[in-house]
Amino acid sequence: MIKVLFVCLGNICRSPMAQFVFKQMAEDRGLSGYFEIDSAGTESYNEIHHAGIHYGTREILKEKNVPFEEHYSRRIRTNDYEYYDYIIAMDDSNIEDIQSLTGLDTEHKIYRLLDFTSHPRNIKDPWYTGNFEECYEDIVEGCSAFLDFLKKS
Ligand code: 4NP
Repeated sequence: MIKVLFVCLGNICRSPMAQFVFKQMAEDRGLSGYFEIDSAGTESYNEIHHAGIHYGTREILKEKNVPFEEHYSRRIRTNDYEYYDYIIAMDDSNIEDIQSLTGLDTEHKIYRLLDFTSHPRNIKDPWYTGNFEECYEDIVEGCSAFLDFLKKS
């Protein structure tokens, strides 16, 4: 079983979107049995408020026919670093924040999602841009490239 944790700042927009897009893509490729998938954030404020998936993420997942379940925001924990095989961040600042919470990436488990693509970049936060469509397109590109990487390795 390959354990994958997607991580963003608030764990209500990008990382739950990546979690469910990746899950669906793995299913479509007949690989779902190989993965345990979850998501977390680097901040605790949404966990404190028991926040669910953001309305914009829900709407785009529905529009694209990506099934999803309820997910409540939680902050990444120190033992997540030991537990997960891949910790997949949405942007550079997530990577810095993850390492300040879990320690340095001595086992090389932390990646930025779009670094698997031929056009490495951050995934812009739709909490600030309001652009959930662009976020979705980036996440699809990243998840597809990540799955290709896993198949090769
Ligand atoms: P996310 O977006 O990191 O993609 O989930 C955000 C969600 C909430 C907040 C910031 C970013 N916030 O400040 O509550």
